[in-house]
Parts: sequence; C-alpha cells; structure tokens
Amino acid sequence: MTLKQCFTPVAGAVVVLAVTALAGMMLLRSPQVHADEGNNDDSRIQKGFAIAPVPLNLTEKNRDLVGIGSYIVNAQADCNGCHSIDPSTEYSPGGSPFLRFPFFNGTKKVNPATYLAGGADFGPFGPTLPHLYTRNLTPDITGRPEGGHTLPEFMQIMRHGTDYDGVHPNCPATTGIPSGNCFTPPFNGALLQVMPWPTFQDMSDRDLEAIYAYLSAIPCNPGPVIANAPYLRNVCPVK
Ligand code: HEC
Repeated sequence: MTLKQCFTPVAGAVVVLAVTALAGMMLLRSPQVHADEGNNDDSRIQKGFAIAPVPLNLTEKNRDLVGIGSYIVNAQADCNGCHSIDPSTEYSPGGSPFLRFPFFNGTKKVNPATYLAGGADFGPFGPTLPHLYTRNLTPDITGRPEGGHTLPEFMQIMRHGTDYDGVHPNCPATTGIPSGNCFTPPFNGALLQVMPWPTFQDMSDRDLEAIYAYLSAIPCNPGPVIANAPYLRNVCPVK
C-alpha cells in the first residue's frame, strides 16, 4: 500500500467527519436560538405574568422576581398539581384537560378558588397517621406566604424539608406508643414527606426567592375546612 492509498480514505473520513460535525453544529444552533428566545429572564417574566391564574399584588414586590416565580410555579414545578385540594376541582368547570365531564372546552383554566390553598389528601401515611395533606401556600394576614413563613424559613423548608408547624412529629422514642398524628419509623415525621424538597433543594437562591416573591403576591385563600387539618386555615385581611 502506498502512502497515498493509505491517506485518501483517511482524508475522506476526515472530510465526512467535518461535514457531519458542521451539520451537527448547525442542528444544535437552531434549537439554541429558540431556547434563548424562550428562556431568558425577560421572556420568563413575560410568560410568568401571562399564565398566572390569579390577580397579583405587586405592592412592595420585586416585579421581575414575581414573574420568574410565576413561571417556575405554574410552568415548571407544578406546585398546584399537589397544593390544590382535588384533581376534579383543580381546574374551573370546562377548563380541565383531564375530565370528560364537564367536557373540556379546549382552553385550560386553573381554578382560582382552590389555587395553592392545599388540602390534597395523600392518604394514610403509616399505621398511625390518618392522612397527609398538602399545605396552604397562599399568604395570610401578615402578607407572607404559606401561613406567614419568612424568606429564611421558606429557604430552609425548600432546601431541608423542615416542618415548622410540627404537624406530624415523631412518636416519643421512650414509650414508642403511637398516638395522634405521630410518625413511627421508617419515616421521619420532623421532615416534610411527599413534598419534593430533595429535588427543589438544588434550585438557585434566586429561583427560590422568586417562588417566595410570587407566593407573596397571590391572593390570600382561607383554605379548605378539613377536620383533621385545622392548620390549613388562613386568616385573610378584611377586604
Ligand atoms: C408531589 C406533590 C407536591 C408538589 C409538586 C409540591 N408540593 Fe409542597 N408539599 C407537598 C406535601 C404533601 C406537603 C406537606 C408534607 C407534610 O405534611 O409532610 C407540602 C408542603 C409544602 C410546604 C410546607 C408549608 C408549611 O406551612 O410549612 C411548602 C412551603 C411547600 N410545600 C411549597 C411547595 C412549592 C413552592 C412547590 C412548587 C415549587 C411545591 N410545594 C410542590 C406536596 C407537594
């Protein structure tokens, strides 16, 4: 084999490779352009305001953060999928893509009456805990979200699952006798269960602050009346 014979296929392969790589880069580039269109702050803020299903109170709020928060809560993290009481009332009548009655009219419409007010029942959780309910995330009379929690508390909840309300503590280790809502092993009752905080903990500070800003801007909802979960009730400002 001469040097030329040996070289030509290699050179050919190099050309093929180069062309493929170039085509690949062009393919990669075009979605990139689209991704930028839909993913920079301005477009997320704009989209966030367009899809918020409730009126927002922007007084003393950072508008940009509220918009980004709405984008995360309503287009990405599906907070309302769990934090509204029931799949059948999560959307307004005719606005639920999931239902066959009332027939879906083609336009999704989140139900403001149940929006982020909690109460979804995740069923008996362990032998002694009757039920595990999602919490009311709307602001109360203090104007702070989810029952008046401060931003540092909110960060702690989202990063570490701390349950400040102590709704389902661990059963006393000394007696080991389950009572009320206390948790027996293996679950740790000091921490929020089901709530995807181990996933949310990897969000940036800014994204978490944006969620907090958004949850501060939505209307207060007094919350559902559930006998075993009085903590879902919110004191709202008098209108
Ligand atoms: C898969 C269902 C699910 C999703 C999705 C979800 N949550 Fe939760 N969340 C829960 C449950 C269940 C609880 C109560 C857990 C418990 O009592 O142990 C909870 C509790 C909380 C709490 C504690 C409230 C308090 O008063 O201490 C906060 C805050 C919270 N969620 C915020 C959010 C936010 C913000 C999102 C969206 C970014 C979200 N959750 C998405 C299920 C969910």
